[in-house]
Amino acid sequence: MEYIKYPEEFRKLIAGIDTKVPLINGKYSTAINFDNAATTPPFLSVLEALMNFSPWYASVHRGAGYKSQLSSSCYEDCREIVGDFVGADMQKHTVIFVKNTTEAINKLSYRLLNKYKKDAVVLSSFMEHHSNDLPWRDKYSVDYVDIDCTGRLSLKDLKEKLIQYKGKVKLVTIAGASNVTGYINPIHEIASLAHEYGAEILVDGAQLVPHAPISMKTSNPSEAIDYLVFSGHKMYAPFGTGVLIGPRETFQEGVAEYVGGGTVELVTHNYIRWFDPPLKEEAGSPNMMGVIALVESIKSLQKLDMYLIDNYEKALTTYTINRLKCIPDIILYGNTIDSRDRLGIVPFNMEGIDHNMLAYMLSYEGGISVRNGCFCAQPYVQRLLNIPDEEIQRRIGDPTLSHPGVVRISFGLYNTHREVDTLISLLKKISLNKKDYIKKYKEILS
Ligand code: ALA
Repeated sequence: MEYIKYPEEFRKLIAGIDTKVPLINGKYSTAINFDNAATTPPFLSVLEALMNFSPWYASVHRGAGYKSQLSSSCYEDCREIVGDFVGADMQKHTVIFVKNTTEAINKLSYRLLNKYKKDAVVLSSFMEHHSNDLPWRDKYSVDYVDIDCTGRLSLKDLKEKLIQYKGKVKLVTIAGASNVTGYINPIHEIASLAHEYGAEILVDGAQLVPHAPISMKTSNPSEAIDYLVFSGHKMYAPFGTGVLIGPRETFQEGVAEYVGGGTVELVTHNYIRWFDPPLKEEAGSPNMMGVIALVESIKSLQKLDMYLIDNYEKALTTYTINRLKCIPDIILYGNTIDSRDRLGIVPFNMEGIDHNMLAYMLSYEGGISVRNGCFCAQPYVQRLLNIPDEEIQRRIGDPTLSHPGVVRISFGLYNTHREVDTLISLLKKISLNKKDYIKKYKEILS
Protein backbone atom coordinates (compact mmCIF):
# COMPACT_ATOMS: atom_id res chain seq x y z
CA MET A 1 0.00 0.00 0.00
CA GLU A 2 1.29 3.43 -0.88
CA TYR A 3 1.99 5.89 1.94
CA ILE A 4 -1.16 7.85 2.78
CA LYS A 5 -1.05 10.78 5.15
CA TYR A 6 -4.32 12.63 4.70
CA PRO A 7 -7.86 11.28 5.24
CA GLU A 8 -8.94 12.78 1.89
CA GLU A 9 -6.75 10.16 0.24
CA PHE A 10 -8.37 7.21 2.02
CA ARG A 11 -10.88 6.79 -0.81
CA LYS A 12 -8.33 5.45 -3.22
CA LEU A 13 -7.69 2.49 -0.93
CA ILE A 14 -11.20 1.06 -1.33
CA ALA A 15 -12.51 -1.36 -3.99
CA GLY A 16 -15.52 -0.06 -5.92
CA ILE A 17 -15.29 3.49 -4.62
CA ASP A 18 -16.53 4.95 -7.95
CA THR A 19 -19.21 2.34 -8.68
CA LYS A 20 -22.32 3.91 -10.20
CA VAL A 21 -25.72 2.66 -9.06
CA PRO A 22 -29.10 3.20 -10.76
CA LEU A 23 -31.57 5.79 -9.45
CA ILE A 24 -35.35 5.79 -9.80
CA ASN A 25 -35.16 8.48 -12.53
CA GLY A 26 -33.17 6.15 -14.82
CA LYS A 27 -29.89 7.99 -14.25
CA TYR A 28 -26.81 6.63 -12.49
CA SER A 29 -25.02 8.09 -9.51
CA THR A 30 -21.76 7.25 -7.69
CA ALA A 31 -22.75 5.03 -4.79
CA ILE A 32 -22.45 6.51 -1.31
CA ASN A 33 -22.04 3.81 1.31
CA PHE A 34 -23.08 4.87 4.79
CA ASP A 35 -23.62 1.29 5.96
CA ASN A 36 -20.19 0.33 7.22
CA ALA A 37 -21.40 -0.91 10.61
CA ALA A 38 -23.07 -3.78 8.71
CA THR A 39 -20.09 -4.59 6.52
CA THR A 40 -17.26 -2.78 4.73
CA PRO A 41 -15.97 -3.02 1.16
CA PRO A 42 -12.51 -4.58 0.81
CA PHE A 43 -9.28 -2.62 0.77
CA LEU A 44 -7.56 -2.86 -2.63
CA SER A 45 -4.46 -3.94 -0.69
CA VAL A 46 -6.44 -6.92 0.62
CA LEU A 47 -7.43 -7.98 -2.90
CA GLU A 48 -3.82 -7.61 -4.00
CA ALA A 49 -2.59 -9.71 -1.05
CA LEU A 50 -5.08 -12.46 -1.95
CA MET A 51 -3.84 -12.45 -5.56
CA ASN A 52 -0.21 -12.51 -4.40
CA PHE A 53 -0.75 -15.37 -1.98
CA SER A 54 -2.89 -17.45 -4.36
CA PRO A 55 0.05 -19.09 -6.20
CA TRP A 56 1.34 -20.29 -2.82
CA TYR A 57 -1.96 -21.39 -1.32
CA ALA A 58 -2.17 -25.01 -0.13
CA SER A 59 -3.57 -27.04 2.76
CA VAL A 60 -2.81 -25.72 6.24
CA HIS A 61 -1.45 -28.22 8.82
CA ARG A 62 -2.15 -31.08 6.45
CA GLY A 63 0.67 -31.51 3.97
CA ALA A 64 4.40 -31.95 3.51
CA GLY A 65 4.55 -30.16 0.17
CA TYR A 66 6.46 -26.89 0.05
CA LYS A 67 3.34 -24.79 -0.47
CA SER A 68 1.57 -26.57 2.36
CA GLN A 69 4.51 -25.95 4.71
CA LEU A 70 4.56 -22.30 3.68
CA SER A 71 0.79 -21.88 4.11
CA SER A 72 0.91 -23.55 7.53
CA SER A 73 3.71 -21.40 8.88
CA CYS A 74 2.17 -18.25 7.41
CA TYR A 75 -1.18 -19.12 9.05
CA GLU A 76 0.49 -19.48 12.45
CA ASP A 77 2.44 -16.21 12.02
CA CYS A 78 -0.86 -14.44 11.35
CA ARG A 79 -2.01 -15.17 14.90
CA GLU A 80 0.85 -13.03 16.23
CA ILE A 81 0.02 -10.12 13.90
CA VAL A 82 -3.66 -10.20 14.87
CA GLY A 83 -2.88 -10.47 18.58
CA ASP A 84 -0.37 -7.63 18.37
CA PHE A 85 -2.91 -5.36 16.62
CA VAL A 86 -5.28 -5.51 19.59
CA GLY A 87 -2.60 -5.60 22.30
CA ALA A 88 -3.22 -9.21 23.32
CA ASP A 89 -0.89 -10.75 25.87
CA MET A 90 0.60 -13.52 23.73
CA GLN A 91 2.12 -15.24 26.80
CA LYS A 92 -1.36 -15.76 28.14
CA HIS A 93 -3.79 -15.41 25.26
CA THR A 94 -4.53 -17.64 22.31
CA VAL A 95 -5.84 -16.30 18.99
CA ILE A 96 -8.55 -18.52 17.49
CA PHE A 97 -9.79 -17.96 13.95
CA VAL A 98 -13.53 -18.39 13.41
CA LYS A 99 -16.07 -17.17 10.85
CA ASN A 100 -17.18 -13.92 12.47
CA THR A 101 -18.01 -12.24 15.80
CA THR A 102 -21.28 -14.17 16.17
CA GLU A 103 -19.51 -17.50 15.81
CA ALA A 104 -16.80 -16.35 18.23
CA ILE A 105 -19.33 -15.48 20.94
CA ASN A 106 -21.26 -18.71 20.38
CA LYS A 107 -18.03 -20.70 20.68
CA LEU A 108 -17.05 -18.94 23.89
CA SER A 109 -20.52 -19.44 25.37
CA TYR A 110 -20.07 -23.22 24.94
CA ARG A 111 -16.46 -23.31 26.08
CA LEU A 112 -17.10 -21.39 29.29
CA LEU A 113 -19.60 -24.07 30.36
CA ASN A 114 -16.54 -26.06 31.24
CA LYS A 115 -15.01 -23.27 33.33
CA TYR A 116 -17.99 -21.73 35.12
CA LYS A 117 -20.21 -23.47 37.67
CA LYS A 118 -23.86 -24.34 36.94
CA ASP A 119 -25.27 -21.29 38.75
CA ALA A 120 -23.01 -18.80 36.92
CA VAL A 121 -24.52 -15.43 36.02
CA VAL A 122 -23.55 -13.67 32.80
CA LEU A 123 -24.12 -9.92 32.71
CA SER A 124 -24.89 -8.67 29.22
CA SER A 125 -26.37 -5.20 28.70
CA PHE A 126 -29.36 -3.38 27.26
CA MET A 127 -27.25 -2.04 24.40
CA GLU A 128 -26.04 -5.39 23.06
CA HIS A 129 -26.40 -6.79 19.59
CA HIS A 130 -28.45 -10.03 19.62
CA SER A 131 -25.20 -11.94 19.05
CA ASN A 132 -23.98 -10.85 22.47
CA ASP A 133 -27.23 -11.79 24.14
CA LEU A 134 -28.85 -14.89 22.61
CA PRO A 135 -25.83 -17.26 22.84
CA TRP A 136 -25.74 -16.79 26.64
CA ARG A 137 -29.44 -17.27 27.32
CA ASP A 138 -29.76 -21.06 27.08
CA LYS A 139 -26.59 -21.79 29.07
CA TYR A 140 -26.37 -19.33 31.97
CA SER A 141 -28.51 -17.04 34.10
CA VAL A 142 -28.41 -13.82 32.13
CA ASP A 143 -29.12 -10.31 33.36
CA TYR A 144 -28.76 -7.02 31.54
CA VAL A 145 -26.87 -3.93 32.72
CA ASP A 146 -29.17 -0.96 32.31
CA ILE A 147 -28.69 2.18 30.21
CA ASP A 148 -29.28 5.80 31.18
CA CYS A 149 -31.75 8.22 29.56
CA THR A 150 -29.33 8.99 26.70
CA GLY A 151 -28.82 5.28 25.97
CA ARG A 152 -25.38 5.02 27.56
CA LEU A 153 -24.37 2.05 29.66
CA SER A 154 -24.95 2.69 33.38
CA LEU A 155 -21.79 1.85 35.33
CA LYS A 156 -23.79 2.46 38.50
CA ASP A 157 -26.17 -0.34 37.52
CA LEU A 158 -23.25 -2.58 36.58
CA LYS A 159 -21.75 -2.14 40.04
CA GLU A 160 -25.10 -2.68 41.75
CA LYS A 161 -25.66 -5.91 39.81
CA LEU A 162 -22.17 -7.18 40.58
CA ILE A 163 -22.85 -6.58 44.29
CA GLN A 164 -26.38 -8.00 44.15
CA TYR A 165 -25.26 -11.33 42.64
CA LYS A 166 -22.70 -11.86 45.43
CA GLY A 167 -19.86 -13.31 43.37
CA LYS A 168 -22.07 -15.37 41.03
CA VAL A 169 -21.38 -13.11 38.05
CA LYS A 170 -18.63 -14.91 36.18
CA LEU A 171 -18.67 -12.88 32.97
CA VAL A 172 -19.50 -9.31 32.00
CA THR A 173 -20.01 -9.24 28.24
CA ILE A 174 -20.16 -5.79 26.71
CA ALA A 175 -19.92 -4.15 23.29
CA GLY A 176 -16.74 -2.13 22.81
CA ALA A 177 -19.01 0.27 20.94
CA SER A 178 -22.70 0.09 20.11
CA ASN A 179 -23.74 -0.72 16.54
CA VAL A 180 -26.87 1.43 17.08
CA THR A 181 -25.65 4.63 18.74
CA GLY A 182 -21.90 4.27 18.25
CA TYR A 183 -21.35 4.92 21.98
CA ILE A 184 -17.92 3.70 23.05
CA ASN A 185 -17.98 1.91 26.39
CA PRO A 186 -15.20 2.48 28.96
CA ILE A 187 -14.02 -1.11 28.62
CA HIS A 188 -11.05 -0.84 30.96
CA GLU A 189 -13.11 0.73 33.71
CA ILE A 190 -15.70 -2.04 33.22
CA ALA A 191 -12.89 -4.64 33.31
CA SER A 192 -11.64 -3.25 36.59
CA LEU A 193 -15.12 -3.40 38.14
CA ALA A 194 -15.76 -6.92 36.81
CA HIS A 195 -12.42 -8.17 38.16
CA GLU A 196 -13.01 -6.54 41.54
CA TYR A 197 -16.11 -8.73 41.92
CA GLY A 198 -14.50 -11.91 40.60
CA ALA A 199 -15.87 -11.83 37.03
CA GLU A 200 -14.10 -11.95 33.66
CA ILE A 201 -14.83 -9.56 30.80
CA LEU A 202 -15.60 -10.21 27.14
CA VAL A 203 -15.54 -7.25 24.77
CA ASP A 204 -17.56 -7.55 21.56
CA GLY A 205 -15.18 -5.54 19.40
CA ALA A 206 -17.06 -5.92 16.11
CA GLN A 207 -17.69 -2.17 15.87
CA LEU A 208 -14.79 -0.78 17.91
CA VAL A 209 -11.78 -2.66 16.54
CA PRO A 210 -12.02 -1.35 12.92
CA HIS A 211 -12.43 2.29 13.98
CA ALA A 212 -10.34 3.04 17.07
CA PRO A 213 -7.15 1.83 18.76
CA ILE A 214 -7.63 -0.86 21.40
CA SER A 215 -5.34 -2.77 23.75
CA MET A 216 -6.34 -5.86 25.72
CA LYS A 217 -3.19 -5.46 27.87
CA THR A 218 -2.99 -2.49 30.23
CA SER A 219 -0.37 -1.12 32.60
CA ASN A 220 -2.78 -1.90 35.45
CA PRO A 221 -3.54 -5.65 35.13
CA SER A 222 -6.97 -5.27 36.75
CA GLU A 223 -8.07 -3.23 33.71
CA ALA A 224 -6.98 -5.82 31.14
CA ILE A 225 -9.51 -7.42 28.78
CA ASP A 226 -9.90 -11.20 29.15
CA TYR A 227 -11.72 -11.99 25.90
CA LEU A 228 -12.07 -10.05 22.66
CA VAL A 229 -14.01 -10.92 19.50
CA PHE A 230 -14.23 -9.15 16.14
CA SER A 231 -14.89 -9.70 12.41
CA GLY A 232 -12.81 -9.23 9.27
CA HIS A 233 -15.81 -8.25 7.17
CA LYS A 234 -16.32 -5.07 9.20
CA MET A 235 -12.67 -4.07 8.74
CA TYR A 236 -12.19 -4.06 4.97
CA ALA A 237 -11.50 -7.81 4.73
CA PRO A 238 -14.83 -9.47 3.87
CA PHE A 239 -13.49 -12.98 3.31
CA GLY A 240 -15.06 -14.98 6.13
CA THR A 241 -12.66 -14.64 9.04
CA GLY A 242 -13.46 -13.60 12.58
CA VAL A 243 -11.34 -13.70 15.72
CA LEU A 244 -11.74 -14.96 19.29
CA ILE A 245 -8.92 -14.09 21.69
CA GLY A 246 -8.90 -15.36 25.26
CA PRO A 247 -6.74 -17.00 27.92
CA ARG A 248 -5.25 -20.25 26.60
CA GLU A 249 -6.21 -22.04 29.81
CA THR A 250 -9.95 -21.48 29.09
CA PHE A 251 -9.63 -23.70 26.02
CA GLN A 252 -7.17 -26.21 27.49
CA GLU A 253 -9.81 -28.32 29.23
CA GLY A 254 -13.03 -29.64 27.73
CA VAL A 255 -14.05 -30.16 24.15
CA ALA A 256 -14.87 -27.62 21.44
CA GLU A 257 -18.47 -27.33 20.21
CA TYR A 258 -17.33 -28.44 16.74
CA VAL A 259 -14.85 -31.27 16.43
CA GLY A 260 -13.26 -33.10 13.52
CA GLY A 261 -10.17 -32.95 11.34
CA GLY A 262 -7.38 -30.71 12.59
CA THR A 263 -8.45 -30.83 16.26
CA VAL A 264 -6.92 -34.13 17.36
CA GLU A 265 -3.46 -35.57 17.83
CA LEU A 266 -4.39 -39.21 18.41
CA VAL A 267 -7.67 -41.05 17.79
CA THR A 268 -8.80 -44.64 18.18
CA HIS A 269 -12.41 -45.74 18.26
CA ASN A 270 -12.37 -45.39 22.02
CA TYR A 271 -9.69 -42.77 22.69
CA ILE A 272 -9.12 -39.12 21.69
CA ARG A 273 -6.14 -36.89 22.46
CA TRP A 274 -6.96 -33.31 21.52
CA PHE A 275 -4.41 -30.83 20.22
CA ASP A 276 -3.66 -27.87 22.44
CA PRO A 277 -5.53 -24.63 21.73
CA PRO A 278 -5.89 -22.92 19.34
CA LEU A 279 -5.83 -25.97 17.02
CA LYS A 280 -8.42 -27.95 19.00
CA GLU A 281 -10.85 -25.05 18.49
CA GLU A 282 -10.57 -24.87 14.68
CA ALA A 283 -12.23 -27.97 13.25
CA GLY A 284 -11.89 -28.53 9.50
CA SER A 285 -9.59 -26.86 6.98
CA PRO A 286 -8.70 -23.35 8.13
CA ASN A 287 -9.82 -20.37 6.06
CA MET A 288 -6.27 -19.42 5.07
CA MET A 289 -7.31 -16.85 2.46
CA GLY A 290 -9.68 -15.19 4.93
CA VAL A 291 -6.81 -14.90 7.39
CA ILE A 292 -4.49 -13.47 4.72
CA ALA A 293 -7.19 -10.87 3.99
CA LEU A 294 -7.65 -9.97 7.65
CA VAL A 295 -3.92 -9.61 8.27
CA GLU A 296 -3.44 -7.43 5.20
CA SER A 297 -6.27 -5.19 6.32
CA ILE A 298 -4.63 -4.93 9.75
CA LYS A 299 -1.33 -3.95 8.14
CA SER A 300 -3.11 -1.31 6.06
CA LEU A 301 -4.96 0.10 9.09
CA GLN A 302 -1.70 0.22 11.06
CA LYS A 303 0.03 2.10 8.24
CA LEU A 304 -2.82 4.62 8.13
CA ASP A 305 -2.72 4.92 11.94
CA MET A 306 -5.75 4.02 14.06
CA TYR A 307 -5.54 7.36 15.92
CA LEU A 308 -5.82 9.29 12.65
CA ILE A 309 -8.75 7.13 11.51
CA ASP A 310 -10.51 7.56 14.86
CA ASN A 311 -10.11 11.35 14.83
CA TYR A 312 -11.20 11.68 11.23
CA GLU A 313 -14.35 9.58 11.69
CA LYS A 314 -15.25 11.45 14.89
CA ALA A 315 -14.92 14.79 13.10
CA LEU A 316 -17.15 13.51 10.29
CA THR A 317 -19.71 12.38 12.88
CA THR A 318 -19.80 15.75 14.63
CA TYR A 319 -20.18 17.47 11.25
CA THR A 320 -23.05 15.15 10.30
CA ILE A 321 -24.91 15.55 13.58
CA ASN A 322 -24.61 19.32 13.40
CA ARG A 323 -25.93 19.38 9.85
CA LEU A 324 -28.79 16.98 10.65
CA LYS A 325 -29.79 19.23 13.55
CA CYS A 326 -30.51 21.99 11.01
CA ILE A 327 -33.29 19.94 9.39
CA PRO A 328 -36.32 20.66 11.59
CA ASP A 329 -38.12 17.32 11.34
CA ILE A 330 -35.10 15.09 11.86
CA ILE A 331 -35.19 13.19 15.14
CA LEU A 332 -31.75 12.25 16.46
CA TYR A 333 -31.21 9.58 19.09
CA GLY A 334 -28.71 9.50 21.93
CA ASN A 335 -26.40 12.27 23.03
CA THR A 336 -25.97 14.74 20.17
CA ILE A 337 -23.94 17.30 22.09
CA ASP A 338 -20.65 15.46 22.38
CA SER A 339 -19.26 12.97 19.84
CA ARG A 340 -15.95 12.35 21.59
CA ASP A 341 -16.85 8.97 22.95
CA ARG A 342 -18.86 7.68 20.04
CA LEU A 343 -17.92 6.07 16.75
CA GLY A 344 -19.12 7.25 13.34
CA ILE A 345 -22.67 5.94 13.79
CA VAL A 346 -25.70 8.24 13.70
CA PRO A 347 -29.24 6.88 14.18
CA PHE A 348 -32.14 9.13 13.16
CA ASN A 349 -35.70 9.32 11.86
CA MET A 350 -37.69 11.88 9.91
CA GLU A 351 -40.99 12.88 11.49
CA GLY A 352 -43.91 11.42 9.53
CA ILE A 353 -41.92 9.00 7.34
CA ASP A 354 -41.51 5.32 8.07
CA HIS A 355 -37.83 4.36 8.57
CA ASN A 356 -38.02 1.73 5.84
CA MET A 357 -39.52 4.13 3.31
CA LEU A 358 -36.88 6.77 4.11
CA ALA A 359 -34.06 4.28 3.59
CA TYR A 360 -35.47 3.35 0.16
CA MET A 361 -35.87 7.04 -0.74
CA LEU A 362 -32.19 7.65 0.02
CA SER A 363 -31.22 4.70 -2.15
CA TYR A 364 -33.51 5.36 -5.13
CA GLU A 365 -33.18 9.17 -5.12
CA GLY A 366 -29.52 9.57 -4.17
CA GLY A 367 -27.73 6.22 -4.45
CA ILE A 368 -27.10 6.43 -0.70
CA SER A 369 -26.97 3.16 1.27
CA VAL A 370 -28.01 3.18 4.90
CA ARG A 371 -29.41 0.45 7.12
CA ASN A 372 -32.78 0.84 8.83
CA GLY A 373 -34.73 -1.11 11.43
CA CYS A 374 -33.37 -2.38 14.72
CA PHE A 375 -29.89 -3.54 13.59
CA CYS A 376 -30.13 -6.89 15.41
CA ALA A 377 -30.41 -4.99 18.69
CA GLN A 378 -34.18 -4.89 19.19
CA PRO A 379 -34.28 -4.40 22.99
CA TYR A 380 -31.93 -1.39 22.69
CA VAL A 381 -33.87 0.24 19.85
CA GLN A 382 -37.17 -0.37 21.69
CA ARG A 383 -35.71 1.57 24.65
CA LEU A 384 -34.30 4.39 22.51
CA LEU A 385 -37.69 4.80 20.84
CA ASN A 386 -39.53 4.57 24.17
CA ILE A 387 -41.82 1.86 22.85
CA PRO A 388 -44.30 1.02 25.63
CA ASP A 389 -44.44 -2.55 26.86
CA GLU A 390 -48.09 -2.95 25.71
CA GLU A 391 -46.99 -2.05 22.19
CA ILE A 392 -44.25 -4.70 22.26
CA GLN A 393 -46.78 -7.25 23.58
CA ARG A 394 -49.13 -6.32 20.72
CA ARG A 395 -46.33 -7.08 18.24
CA ILE A 396 -45.53 -10.35 19.97
CA GLY A 397 -49.21 -11.30 19.58
CA ASP A 398 -49.44 -10.21 15.95
CA PRO A 399 -46.41 -11.14 13.79
CA THR A 400 -47.90 -9.26 10.80
CA LEU A 401 -47.31 -5.86 12.46
CA SER A 402 -44.26 -4.03 11.13
CA HIS A 403 -41.34 -3.31 13.46
CA PRO A 404 -40.59 0.20 14.66
CA GLY A 405 -37.06 1.29 13.86
CA VAL A 406 -34.63 4.01 12.89
CA VAL A 407 -32.37 4.89 9.99
CA ARG A 408 -28.63 4.50 10.62
CA ILE A 409 -25.67 6.25 9.03
CA SER A 410 -22.42 4.41 9.76
CA PHE A 411 -19.10 5.66 8.45
CA GLY A 412 -16.00 3.98 7.16
CA LEU A 413 -12.65 5.75 6.94
CA TYR A 414 -13.23 6.56 3.25
CA ASN A 415 -16.48 8.55 3.66
CA THR A 416 -16.25 12.29 3.09
CA HIS A 417 -17.81 15.57 4.16
CA ARG A 418 -18.98 16.03 0.58
CA GLU A 419 -20.92 12.75 0.74
CA VAL A 420 -22.54 13.97 3.95
CA ASP A 421 -23.51 17.21 2.16
CA THR A 422 -25.22 15.13 -0.57
CA LEU A 423 -27.20 13.26 2.08
CA ILE A 424 -28.19 16.47 3.85
CA SER A 425 -29.44 18.15 0.65
CA LEU A 426 -31.52 15.08 -0.21
CA LEU A 427 -32.99 14.91 3.30
CA LYS A 428 -33.86 18.62 3.09
CA LYS A 429 -35.56 18.06 -0.26
CA ILE A 430 -37.55 15.13 1.12
CA SER A 431 -38.49 17.13 4.20
CA LEU A 432 -39.75 20.08 2.15
CA ASN A 433 -41.76 17.87 -0.25
CA LYS A 434 -42.73 15.17 2.20
CA LYS A 435 -46.29 14.56 1.02
CA ASP A 436 -45.21 14.08 -2.62
CA TYR A 437 -42.37 11.75 -1.68
CA ILE A 438 -44.59 9.65 0.59
CA LYS A 439 -47.23 9.32 -2.15
CA LYS A 440 -44.59 8.32 -4.72
CA TYR A 441 -42.95 5.75 -2.43
CA LYS A 442 -46.23 4.25 -1.24
CA GLU A 443 -46.75 3.26 -4.88
CA ILE A 444 -43.15 2.14 -5.45
CA LEU A 445 -43.00 -0.01 -2.32
CA SER A 446 -46.52 -1.47 -2.56
N1 ALA B 1 -24.33 -5.90 13.39
C1 ALA B 1 -24.38 -5.47 12.07
C2 ALA B 1 -25.10 -4.16 11.93
O1 ALA B 1 -25.23 -3.46 12.89
C3 ALA B 1 -24.85 -6.52 11.19
O2 ALA B 1 -25.56 -3.85 10.85
